[in-house]
Amino acid sequence: MKTNKYTLITGASTGLGKQLAIECAKLGRNLILTALPNEQIKKLGEDISNEYKVKVQTYETDLTQEGAVKSLSLTISAKYEINMLINNAGVGGTLPFLEATPDNIDQIVLLNMRAMVLLTRFLLPNLKKQKKAYILNIASMASFGPMPFKTVYPASKAFVYSFSRGLGAELRGTGVVVSVAHPGGMKTNPEVTRRIEKHSKLIQATTLSTQKVAKICIRQLLKNDELIIPGFMNKVSWVILKIIPVWMRLIIMRSSLQSELQDSKQIIQVA
Ligand SMILES: NC(=O)c1ccc[n+]([C@@H]2O[C@H](COP(=O)([O-])OP(=O)(O)OC[C@H]3O[C@@H](n4cnc5c(N)ncnc54)[C@H](OP(=O)(O)O)[C@@H]3O)[C@@H](O)[C@H]2O)c1
Repeated sequence: MKTNKYTLITGASTGLGKQLAIECAKLGRNLILTALPNEQIKKLGEDISNEYKVKVQTYETDLTQEGAVKSLSLTISAKYEINMLINNAGVGGTLPFLEATPDNIDQIVLLNMRAMVLLTRFLLPNLKKQKKAYILNIASMASFGPMPFKTVYPASKAFVYSFSRGLGAELRGTGVVVSVAHPGGMKTNPEVTRRIEKHSKLIQATTLSTQKVAKICIRQLLKNDELIIPGFMNKVSWVILKIIPVWMRLIIMRSSLQSELQDSKQIIQVA
């Protein structure tokens, strides 16, 4: 498929975003990849372009900065036709609420919610001009209930779920499909890996590779699936979460997440 249309992916330098970029490139989709300012994204863009023979543009911008989303959107919209937007960039972490700095909390709120919503808002006119276009928002299994010691992160991902389903229903019939994906744990960086490994074998069994999750997400997105829960074990967890009352889940979560906190020093990483 040779086309002049582009897929925009945020947080594409590493982890799930990088694999989503590779999956899209395999399908011949041109890419616009964004990440924080560093050399990684430019190099990755060149590698993907060479290997899959697609056009790749890269942008380095901190999406939490005032005006950054607007300026990125206007620049991109003036130059390219976008027929797929993947809001992947997101951060989180595990800490007692009072130990998270206000800056850490602000990052989660600004990146996971504000940047996603505003990027979607600014690019929607461009997406609507296409015969068929897709929006994929990356949420988490954490969207499906409150979690002690993570508090803001699951709340932000519940927002991603609610926003995506609402917008999807609003845009039905316009040619723009909105999907939301809920991955479970993925060992994307050392901190997330350390945290996943603190959990029981049962929880660890829900972990999937970023390659697998990316493949499932793109396949289901292109089939117009509005709700994507990658992996059998995560689907089972999703059903169980619907059955167990919240108060009981919170007791289980509290003890499970307390083990994540042991010898944890920092955190503002994804989960
Ligand atoms: N990992 C998991 O277990 C897991 C589970 C469920 C859901 N998720 C969700 O999946 C998505 C991807 O997670 P991941 O683990 O693949 O992430 P990751 O490996 O930590 O990568 C995060 C990406 O976001 C970019 N980024 C971070 N802060 C940014 C900012 N302020 N502005 C612009 N870009 C920024 C990073 O850029 P740089 O590389 O330049 O820093 C990087 O490209 C997130 O939405 C996350 O919440 C992850």
